[in-house]
Amino acid sequence: MKVIIANNSLEASKMVSDLIKEEIKNKNDSVIGLATGSTPIKVYSNLIENYKNGEIDFSETITFNLDEYIDLEKENKNSYYSFMNKNLFDHINIDKNNTYIPNGNSKDLEKECKDYDRKIDEKGGIDLQLLGIGRNGHIAFNEPGSDFELKTRIVDLSYETIKDNSRNFENIDDMPKKAITMGIASIMKAKKIILLALGESKKDALEKLICGEVDKNLPASILQKHSNVYIIADKEAGGNLTCLD
Ligand code: PGA
Repeated sequence: MKVIIANNSLEASKMVSDLIKEEIKNKNDSVIGLATGSTPIKVYSNLIENYKNGEIDFSETITFNLDEYIDLEKENKNSYYSFMNKNLFDHINIDKNNTYIPNGNSKDLEKECKDYDRKIDEKGGIDLQLLGIGRNGHIAFNEPGSDFELKTRIVDLSYETIKDNSRNFENIDDMPKKAITMGIASIMKAKKIILLALGESKKDALEKLICGEVDKNLPASILQKHSNVYIIADKEAGGNLTCLD
């Protein structure tokens, strides 16, 4: 794992967007795995700026999002479909037919999950996967205890995740309790992975990921076994890590 601790969140986000920019410049039809949440927002605004400056052409780019809530209308402002349009897709020249997000309103959710992994394989697999990390060490919605072998599937969200993500909903009861998530096995197949961690609240999880053992109870720790991973953090999340001294 290449661990980079930037001075602040802007620097960390710029490092990540530059890596994505390079990936797409080298291969126009790159398959990029995307994340939602507060962490990647600045990465996406940098990419929009890169596009506006003529530095990136997204016309051939293919994207797969990590996850989506179940039973939340696509048009709801908290759906990941809405998030991606608002924070990235509406502002760049990507062909929306090439942007894949699990459909949490599918009549056949099991089939939706199987089809999602199949579609990723059909497109040649993910070249670069962007990840955030939950305070509980989850990646995508693979909550603590998730088997590393699992692929895309339906999951119950943990209490901690519901509490963290309900900040965007009017009240906690409006927040979906289930989601479709790419599994850890699906994520580990990506050729390159970049995990971005910002802020003090991620410090414990990041310390365990970088300094601890591979452990199902800290799902992100599996990244230690991937051969091409960047962990990029700001000082709040990654400063003073005991094992990096
Ligand atoms: P956050 O979520 O970016 O909103 O902190 C990250 C995650 O849960 O993976």
